[in-house]
Amino acid sequence: MIESNKVQKILYGGDYNPEQWPEETWKEDMRLLKLAHIDIVTLNVFSWASLQSDENTYHFEKLDKIMDMVKENGLKVCLATSTGAHPAWMARKYPDILRTEFNGMKRKFGSRHNSCPNSPTYKKYAKALAVKLAERYKNYDNIVAWHISNEFGGMCYCENCERNFREWLKNKYKTIDEVNHVWDTAFWGHTFYDFEDIVVPNMLSEHFAPNRTTFQGISLDYRRFNSESIMNCYRMEYDAIHEITPDIPITTNLMGAYQDLDYQMWAKYMDFISWDNYPANDTPMEDTSLKHDLMRGLKQGKPFALIEQTPSVTNWLPYNSLKRPGVMRLWSYQAVAHGADTVMFFQMKRSIGACEKYHGAIIDHVGHENTRVFREITELGAELEKIGSLTLGGRTESKAAVIFDWDNWWATDYSAGPSVNLHYFDEVLNYYKAFNNLNIPVDMISVEDDLSKYSLVIAPLLYMVKTGHDEKIRNFVNNGGHFLTTFFSGYVDEHDLVTIGGYPGKLRDILGIWVEEEDALPDDASNSFTYQGVTYPATLICDLLHTENAQALSAYEKDFYAGMPALTRNSFGKGAAYYVATRSNADFYRQFIGDICKEISIEPIINTPEDIEVTKRSNDNGTFLFFLNHGEEKVDIVLNCGGTDILTDNVYQNGDTLALGAKGVAILRQK
Ligand code: GLA
Ligand code: ZN
Repeated sequence: MIESNKVQKILYGGDYNPEQWPEETWKEDMRLLKLAHIDIVTLNVFSWASLQSDENTYHFEKLDKIMDMVKENGLKVCLATSTGAHPAWMARKYPDILRTEFNGMKRKFGSRHNSCPNSPTYKKYAKALAVKLAERYKNYDNIVAWHISNEFGGMCYCENCERNFREWLKNKYKTIDEVNHVWDTAFWGHTFYDFEDIVVPNMLSEHFAPNRTTFQGISLDYRRFNSESIMNCYRMEYDAIHEITPDIPITTNLMGAYQDLDYQMWAKYMDFISWDNYPANDTPMEDTSLKHDLMRGLKQGKPFALIEQTPSVTNWLPYNSLKRPGVMRLWSYQAVAHGADTVMFFQMKRSIGACEKYHGAIIDHVGHENTRVFREITELGAELEKIGSLTLGGRTESKAAVIFDWDNWWATDYSAGPSVNLHYFDEVLNYYKAFNNLNIPVDMISVEDDLSKYSLVIAPLLYMVKTGHDEKIRNFVNNGGHFLTTFFSGYVDEHDLVTIGGYPGKLRDILGIWVEEEDALPDDASNSFTYQGVTYPATLICDLLHTENAQALSAYEKDFYAGMPALTRNSFGKGAAYYVATRSNADFYRQFIGDICKEISIEPIINTPEDIEVTKRSNDNGTFLFFLNHGEEKVDIVLNCGGTDILTDNVYQNGDTLALGAKGVAILRQK
């Protein structure tokens, strides 16, 4: 939708479920939505039950009416396919559509996002519905996007899945001998004689907790299989719809850093990325920024859609605090600052029943426009109208990248040892935060992405080095790139089999080190090291390493390994490779990454206090600098460039002071 010629501004709107309300209320909804400057509604997300009452009977009359009404009211539509929750009749007649949980429990009808991705029945009817919707509404020129299903996710362990898993393995490994090899089944006498011996890895078999498995290889392959199985449901609907409406872009709402699905694989089959952003009030701003950048990176920097956020509260947190005045606006612009071309919400109107009746909405139960939330929504709507098409399509140019890889996420979380506190996402966030706080643009990239346009690539916890990835990094550094990785990197190949001959395996020559042992530190323990005259903590893991070609930049200060390197730099070809052998704190990461960036002329956009986030997007209309004050205090920023604030029309010269109130936003345009 975001690149279509039907769109001339940041689309503003979101999920609207009029089918849950008496028809006589619809007219007032239209008045209120227009008053709030809403221009797009996401329709039909959970209507399968009313659209299809048995195998052959469909009812589109109500949806026809809704589609006509929103068209008459000048609204664009993001049309969902409703396959995120199957109808009760289907569950009763065809129990194979029901999932089996991780603990082996077969589900009954209930909840949503609960269909077995390998159920032939589910797939048959999901596809049929998608086709019917596409056929019926293909001539509505206000449809700007298809929204397949809703928040695909979870895992299934049923018999359909078990059967298909065996087929998937046959296809991937060809012989049972190869399966035995890649899973190292000689361990604990697990040798499989036949594909039929293989069962799904859950609490009934290899697991003793969700992330605790006795066979990493099996569990890892099951994650890949599950992500692909669900992706195939998405692709099935995609293909069916695309054939009928080839010009309408297709998406599905992703969930940011969502572990169960390998979004980098999914993204190849999405016309544009869209995602649902639900930070809690105490979520660090960098956490949200990372997720926006991760979503932007899925399609190599192409703008994405913020397709859901709450206008004020959620209903599912332990404490559903209100978004404070200004925060909804700030977080909306934060999305735009990182590459979003839409600002959308769940939901337009609060339902009266079930679990989301207290979830924030633009139209509250009171039913009129005189609410704080409605006023804030309306003000932002007017601002977005003023911005018009100015920022659309804007790209962020980054000289630095952070590698994010779902296989590594799965594999490190499944690892038995070295520490239960080792979490992939947290380690990536530590490094991302440094860039974010320094106002240095950074791309979140996959192991498949091209590295040649970057000067600095950071791969925290690159535990698994897939075939060819080391060569890509080697070439990058050889050609002058700077590379940084951390403890617990280079240990295994894509099957989680250790690369023998010394850690960090295939990265050893690039880093110029040999890691002999790693020491896991309990929560309350720490070592220390000194860098540029400042002493920093060493926590979580301390690698005991020997330099080969590398130079030690700092050493541990305590314990029997005092004096061994904690930080190394290896000149390699025309570039350099850094190794951080332990976890430290935010001050260290900011200092160390800042120093590396300085050395290779990667400049911050501007230096600001930590609560001020600054990003940059450029398009044919110019370069846009986004200033976001996440803090509680007004801040004066002395500008290092001029520009016109597109929100206020204030003109600034280089050296002028930009005063940014608490939660304030400025967007400076430079032509
Ligand atoms: C998700 C779903 C929506 C709704 C919201 C509530 O994002 O996609 O249907 O349940 O959460 O926060
Ligand atoms: Zn299943």
